[in-house]
Formats: sequence, structure tokens, C-alpha cells
Amino acid sequence: MTLLHSMTVPLGERSYPIYIGDGLLRDVTWLGDVLKARKAAIVTNDVVAPLYAATLHDARQGAETYDIVLPDGESHKTLATASTIFDRLIDHRFARDDVIVALGGGVIGDMAGFAAACYQRGMAFIQIPTTLLAQVDSSVGGKTGVNHPLGKNMIGAFHQPRAVVIDLATLRSLSSRELRAGLAEVVKYAVICDPKFFDWLESNAEKLLTGDVDALGYAIHHSCKTKATIVARDEREHGERALLNFGHTFGHAIESVTGYSRWLHGEAVAAGMLMATSLSERCGLISGRDVARVALLLQRLGLRTETRGELTVDAARRAMSIDKKAKDGRMRLILLRSVGQAFVSDDYPTDALMATLEAHLS
Ligand code: NAD
Ligand code: GLY
Repeated sequence: MTLLHSMTVPLGERSYPIYIGDGLLRDVTWLGDVLKARKAAIVTNDVVAPLYAATLHDARQGAETYDIVLPDGESHKTLATASTIFDRLIDHRFARDDVIVALGGGVIGDMAGFAAACYQRGMAFIQIPTTLLAQVDSSVGGKTGVNHPLGKNMIGAFHQPRAVVIDLATLRSLSSRELRAGLAEVVKYAVICDPKFFDWLESNAEKLLTGDVDALGYAIHHSCKTKATIVARDEREHGERALLNFGHTFGHAIESVTGYSRWLHGEAVAAGMLMATSLSERCGLISGRDVARVALLLQRLGLRTETRGELTVDAARRAMSIDKKAKDGRMRLILLRSVGQAFVSDDYPTDALMATLEAHLS
């Protein structure tokens, strides 16, 4: 195995390491050390289990280990599915000092983390993200939760993992559509706070799309570093962390109105980022050239952003109003002052928002 990068998310006594490498899951001695605990529950799904669960069992070297295999897909990210995790943990007499291992994409990471946050008021968990999206975003920072029929991620808890193990080798079994969806969250970091990284993405888009290990390793490490820095300053999203939701209020509306089936989360975020960028132009904050630059990068990364005919303006507005950032009934959105400088605003003209929705949806 090759350990390409390692870093710490600095959160005092809840600090934890992120390991990024190629082939980490194949080194069962190294992995055994990370996964050591009396009892382990590997929470995964029926797509990922056949690919990567066996190596975790090898690493556990006969120590008591149970697989909790959930059905695949965002539509199963529910309280009902989380409840089946609790059933199994109770059935096998799990205690607080045992460990949950989340093996899969963001859906599994969010649900396993939520179960770990709630089970006996909080038990340890380790993130082994196997999609690019989970490796650059959802496995880091401790947001866990499930969807409610009326809104995405509406039920959840902040609960930090004990470690994050990112093996680039797992990306080789991922579809190119899922890889591209993960790149949307990478672009997000560049657009909100890192113009130099945006330049780097423009220069390395093709390498990322073809799975170049050095380019992907760099992008993952850079994304995790950015996220860790923001989370360390604002773990519970009282301020700056909200910037990580750039494009998400629009994106969540696209996902929920279309029934979590037509759009992948990352694809909806890409479309949402373009809408937020275009709203920033309508508010007189950025130039048409900036909007074109963001649109072109998303297009070069193979991300679909065409939302016309996907949902009505009314449905989008209703869905957007059920947003965790809303304050006193007013939607708070993330807007841009430039590519690389985002801010939270509840002071945008409603006309500009309506015009943006009309332009992108009608
Ligand atoms: P996902 O978990 O549904 O995974 C995408 C698909 O890839 C699934 O079918 C999965 O089974 C499959 N898969 C996973 N790893 C694979 C592999 N190595 N090879 C082949 N197939 C594989 O989706 P996602 O994009 O990883 O995550 C999206 C979820 O993450 C959303 O629910 C979103 O709300 C959440 N999220 C959470 C945070 C956070 O901070 N907690 C941040 C961003 C997104
Ligand atoms: N993905 C948004 C956050 O972690 O805050």
C-alpha cells in the first residue's frame, strides 16, 4: 500500500486522523491497527459489501465482527433503515466502547454515523468512504443524519468519527457518473474560498476524469484540508461552515422534488452551484465572465447542470423554504463576491431569486 497523505482534523479531544492512500484496504495489518476494538459492526450496503467487506474481516483477524448490510440508495436514507441498524446492535449486545465502521458512500456514512451518534447516546465510529463524494466531503466533519419525506437531512446529529480511511483504489470500481458527481463537491471548495485551487482544477480536469492517482490524491487531500480547517473553526455551523452548503439549497430542492432518483446528490449540487453563481451575477456581485468560468469547469467535468423542465419554480421555492439555514422564515443563501470568495446572505432581492429560478427551471 502507499500512504499518500495523512492529516488531523483538529478538534481538541475529538481530533482524528484522515489517512489517504492507494491500496490502504489491502494492507490488513495496518488496517487491523486502525480498526481495533472489542466488537465491530460494519455498516455497508449490498453493492459495496461484496467489493470491500472481506478485507475488513481479514483485518479484524477473527475478532467479533458483524456485517449490517443495508439496501443501496438515497431513498433508503431514512429513520426506518437507521432503526434496523439499532435492532442489530441491540441484538448483538453492542456497547459504547465497541465500534461502527461505515463502509460505503455518503448515504452509508451519514446513516452509520447517525446510528453511532444515537446508540446508547453515542458510540465510536470509523469512516471508510468509498465514493469520491464521501472521500472529499461527507466522511469528514461529523454531520450525520437521515432524510425526512419533507426534507433532506432533516434528522441528524453532529458526531465526529474516530478516523477516516480513504483508499483511492476503491474509486476504480466506481462508475464514472458517480466519480463526476464527487468532483462537484471538489469544485465547491475552490469556488467558495480558493481561487488558486480553481485554477488548478481548470488545468487538471482531464486527469481527474481519467482517474489519475496523483491528481485525485491531491484533490482529495486539498478538499479534506479545506473542510477540516472550516470545521475546526465552526464545528456546529454557527457561521462559516454554512459556506460548505454553497449551491445546496437549490440542489436539495432538485433532489427532493425529483424524488431522490433522477439526480445524484453531486449532480444536483453542481446544478445548484450554477444557480447560486448566476443569482450572484443578478445581484450585481460578480461578472458574466465569472459565471461562464464556473459553468465551463462544471461542463468540462461532465456535470449536468440543465434543470429546465425538471421541476417547477413553485415546487423549487416550497422545497427551498424547508432548509436548515432558513432564519425567521427567510431563506439564507450562499452567494459569491468572486470565484473563490463566498458569503452567507439573507439580503438578496427576491426578484433576483425569482428571475434565477425562472431562467434555470422554466
Ligand atoms: P451514495 O452513498 O449513494 O453512493 C453512490 C453509489 O455508489 C451507491 O449506489 C453506492 O452503493 C455506490 N458505491 C459506493 N462505493 C462504491 C465503490 N467503491 N464502487 C462501486 N460502487 C460504489 O452517494 P454519495 O454520492 O457517496 O453520497 C451522497 C450522500 O452524502 C447524500 O445523502 C448527501 O446528503 C450526503 N452528504 C453528506 C455530507 C455530510 O457532511 N455528512 C456531505 C455531502 C453529502
Ligand atoms: N457538507 C456540508 C458540511 O459538512 O457542513
